[in-house]
Amino acid sequence: MKAVAIQAFGRPEGLAVIDLPAPAPAYGQVLIATEAIGVGGVDAVIRSGALAAYGFKEGHIPGSEVAGTVTAVGDNVATSWIGQRVWAFTSAGGYVEQAIAPVEEILPLPANLSAVDAVTLGSSGVVAHFGLSHAHFAPGESVLVRGAAGSIGIMTVQLAARGGASAVAVTTSSAERGDRLRELGATHVLDRSGEGGEGAPAGYDVIIDIVAGVDMPSFFAKLNPNGRMVAVGAVGGQPPADFGTTMMAAFQKSMSFATFSAATVAEPDRRPVRTEQFAAAGRGELHTVVHELLPLEQAVLAHQKMAAGEVFGRIVLTP
Ligand SMILES: NC(=O)c1ccc[n+]([C@@H]2O[C@H](COP(=O)([O-])OP(=O)(O)OC[C@H]3O[C@@H](n4cnc5c(N)ncnc54)[C@H](OP(=O)(O)O)[C@@H]3O)[C@@H](O)[C@H]2O)c1
Repeated sequence: MKAVAIQAFGRPEGLAVIDLPAPAPAYGQVLIATEAIGVGGVDAVIRSGALAAYGFKEGHIPGSEVAGTVTAVGDNVATSWIGQRVWAFTSAGGYVEQAIAPVEEILPLPANLSAVDAVTLGSSGVVAHFGLSHAHFAPGESVLVRGAAGSIGIMTVQLAARGGASAVAVTTSSAERGDRLRELGATHVLDRSGEGGEGAPAGYDVIIDIVAGVDMPSFFAKLNPNGRMVAVGAVGGQPPADFGTTMMAAFQKSMSFATFSAATVAEPDRRPVRTEQFAAAGRGELHTVVHELLPLEQAVLAHQKMAAGEVFGRIVLTP
């Protein structure tokens, strides 16, 4: 089968198309003929080599979510899965024509949800949902989504709006992106430094931060008393080393900072959320934003577009 592996850490061109024998599902696993493969920001981080210290080696096949049809099952998996169209969290190894996933990480696709929509929503929707709940978001509160133009931000904006936020401000790099985010529920559009957004709230009860980086302290300072900032990503790099000093300087406002990773949410808790989100997307109540569909062989181009900051929503690869 065709696959795409990281042959050399660094630039997108380090990805290469390779041929591999089709895998066989082991105990508790299924084999999926992929129809759609999500390209995530984390794939680019792994490709860059930044996570080499965490066990990611050259030769790694990226790709944490796929959708397609189950073609074979391993021991202890019901054969009734064979022929079912599913979404799957593969964790890694998704840039392939035939992917392996643990049976507990697959979910049937509703008939009215495409494989492409499923990989656009699957992981991002769960991060958005639990990121907001980690921030104890409640109806009537004001929310700022920092780095809203990616798939996590797009889902967070929609969930905050559906959840009754009094305002949903976003940061983004262009007016055109701002208009698209307004269509998804944003009420105020700020630039990357947090300026602009006429009539935007003076402070926020909740900030969902996908960016981090050197500007993180200035956004933390935008929290209202008792406000909560949750970092769910770090596309802008690490915050400054003295971020803790900023937090302590605001001691009397009782503000909170937390990180959130969906890896800490148990699968039985993720499943009903994802099931509800797939159903809502099928009904057209949640919108997926596919930046572009590209063939699997063009994974390099997909990563080049991500590196160039061109992507609004998500790129999806098709085998
Ligand atoms: N918490 C979890 O469980 C979890 C799960 C999966 C992934 N992640 C993390 O989430 C992040 C990827 O999320 P994503 O795919 O939604 O994001 P993304 O598409 O990679 O980026 C989101 C947006 O951030 C803006 N941005 C990029 N670089 C920036 C910078 N230097 N300064 C300010 N804004 C910048 C860009 O929008 P504009 O150009 O419009 O500003 C971009 O579209 C990664 O850090 C990944 O590790 C977390």
